[in-house]
Formats: sequence, structure tokens, C-alpha cells
Amino acid sequence: MGLYLSNISHKFGSNEVLKNVNADIPSGQILCLLGPSGCGKTTLLRIAAGLEILQQGSVRISDDIVADTNIQIPAEKRGVGLMFQDFALFPHLNVRDNVAFGLTELSTEDANKRIDEVLERVNMLGQGDAFPHTLSGGQQQRVALARALAPKPAVMLLDEPFSGLDQNMRVQIREETLGILKTSGVATLMVTHNPEEALFMADQMMVMGPDGRILQQGRPNEIYAEPAHAYVAKFFGQANSVTGVASGGKIETPLGIIDVSNCQDGCEVEAIIRPAALILKIDGDETSDDKRGRGNFDFADGIPVEVISARSLGQNTFVRFRVKGADDDVPDFHCRQRGFFPEKPDSEVRALIRQKRIFIYHTEDSV
Ligand SMILES: Nc1ncnc2c1ncn2[C@@H]1O[C@H](COP(=O)(O)OP(=O)(O)OP(=O)(O)O)[C@@H](O)[C@H]1O
Ligand SMILES: [Mg+2]
Repeated sequence: MGLYLSNISHKFGSNEVLKNVNADIPSGQILCLLGPSGCGKTTLLRIAAGLEILQQGSVRISDDIVADTNIQIPAEKRGVGLMFQDFALFPHLNVRDNVAFGLTELSTEDANKRIDEVLERVNMLGQGDAFPHTLSGGQQQRVALARALAPKPAVMLLDEPFSGLDQNMRVQIREETLGILKTSGVATLMVTHNPEEALFMADQMMVMGPDGRILQQGRPNEIYAEPAHAYVAKFFGQANSVTGVASGGKIETPLGIIDVSNCQDGCEVEAIIRPAALILKIDGDETSDDKRGRGNFDFADGIPVEVISARSLGQNTFVRFRVKGADDDVPDFHCRQRGFFPEKPDSEVRALIRQKRIFIYHTEDSV
């Protein structure tokens, strides 16, 4: 059981949007697909659903090939549940009738039983007679999920299903959805723009580059902790980037010397430094990390910097800074740090860097 995509490539005219995409999603697993706008994520879902004619490769659901260069099983015969961003419930049908939509093959009695079951599962059983416009965004989303699950699909295809919801609702609904998908045992392919959401939901993650190639695929922690490309490393929120030419296993950067011992002399190298790999120390002050006994940073002296702005994000402070005396073409850097509040504007501040947390890439591999 599950959804298996093999060697899928797709073009719109001369615009190649998918290149040799492979994905195996066994039942009960969720694969989250991430990538920049326009790289082909929705196209891949539409091909899997049968809404777009497959050009190259194959789609298998459980033991059946549903699309290859000879076969195209129509969408309604694939046993696929769909939930796209504009999940549009039918406005003239109440909640129960919306959910009943895909249950035409069941007797009225069986359909009613199934509607009760799925509405109960999404906690909407009490609102069966309500019309969509009287429901909140989160409630509508849950009805859409119930409608997609009602025919017991083997596969669910979700295209940015939570993007219309506000932050609190989004966290709640995605947690509920995760539970429902897991207990239903469907194979789920879900597109999201939100890396945090993918880390939360996914059994596997797949990151697509701007050219429609898969850059990396694997368990979420693996992708977060060992990004295979600079592009993937940068995908998880804002990161700092410095470049240099390797010499003697090191590059000189505005933030200090960075170890690139795996790179040959003369190689152009990009170092991606996530905000957590940088810490700022105010002269005479212990950093909060020092206080917790985790002052595990290199360059004990740090690099003198000038704070441009420090804004509280609740738990952390987002600090933008520049290296003192740096040329104009050296970019600003940033970090997130708990409890960083320089009291005096003229305080001496130094940036310390955690070498172990830096990701190093050859620039010729970049996308
Ligand atoms: N029916 C179509 N005809 C021609 N070009 C298309 C068609 N559908 C999509 N495209 C093009 O294919 C590319 C990929 O589109 P797609 O909708 O799959 O991207 P996406 O990764 O889902 O982007 P987003 O994150 O913005 O939703 C885009 O350049 C788009 O303009
Ligand atoms: Mg899309």
C-alpha cells in the first residue's frame, strides 16, 4: 500500500518544471514537499491525482500503476483524497452534504454512517446542518479534511492546506490533521512552504530546487542537521552566508577564519551560518550561554561588531549587526539570542561563532 512516484519529469512547452522526481510514500507516512514558488510542487500533486496528464515516469498506488506513458487512470478512479489551498466547500451544501459528495457509491444508510464517523473524527459532528459561510476558517478546513477522507482514500494529496489560517489556528489544525492522517493510515503527500510545519508533520521531507530537481530527501532531522546543499541549509529560515577561497584548509571571512579542511586549496567555498551558530557578547557581560555553562564557542575573543538593531521576538532578541571596520560590500549579519539587550549604545560587542554548526559548500554545486 502507498504512493510511489518514479522518474517523473514534466514540461509546459519549453518550461521544464519537474526533473526525474522519485518518491516512495508507504501507507501511514507523510512526505512533505518543500521548494520555492514555481518549482513544480502543485504540478507533481496534480500528476499524482490524475488532474495533469503524465508525460514521463510512472505513478503507482498500492499495487496498481495508475499512470505511465501508456496508462492514464482518471482522477476519480484513483482513490485519492485532495485538499488544495483553496479547498472550497460547496457553498450551497451544508456540512453533511459536502462530506457526502464523494460517497455516491454507498447506500444512504452506509453513507450516513460514514459521514458521522468522519465528522466525529474532525470534531464537527454537531455542525452537520451548518452552511460553510457560517463556519470559521478552521472549521471549514476540518470539513474539507473530512470530505477528502470520507471515501477512505489510500492516498491524500494536500497542497498548502493550512496556509489560509492564522498562526494559532494553523498550529491547532495541523496537529489535529496529523493525528487524523496517522490514524487513517493513508499515504500523504503534502506541499508546504513552511519548513517548521514540515519538520512537525513529516516522516520524510523532500526539498526541490528552483529548477524542479529534488535536492535532498530524507528524515526531517537529517535534512535540518545535514543539509546537502547551501540552498537546503538556507531554506530553514534566514541564515548568514560568507564566501571565500580555501587556502590551507581555511577561509578568511569578515566573521573570522573558518575551517574548511575538506576543501582543496583554490576552491570557492560558501559557509552558511545559521543564527544559532552566532552569539554576541557584550564586553564585561557573561553571555546567557556562558551562564548556562554552554560557552562552547570558538575564537574566544570574537570579532568586534556594531549592533544595527535589536528587536525582541518574545523569547529571543533578533539582532542585526555589522563587523566593525568592514568594507562597504560586506553584508550585515544576524542572530537570535535570548536575553540580548545592550544597555548602553556604545557597549563593545563581539561576535563569537560556533564552528561545528557551520555548513560548508563548494560554490560550483550551488543552484
Ligand atoms: N497549465 C499550465 N500551463 C503552463 N504552465 C504552467 C501550467 N501550470 C503550471 N505552469 C507553470 O509551471 C511552473 C510550476 O508551477 P506549479 O504550480 O507546479 O508551481 P508550485 O511549485 O506549486 O509553485 P507555488 O509554490 O507558487 O504554488 C510554473 O512556472 C507555472 O507557471
Ligand atoms: Mg503550488
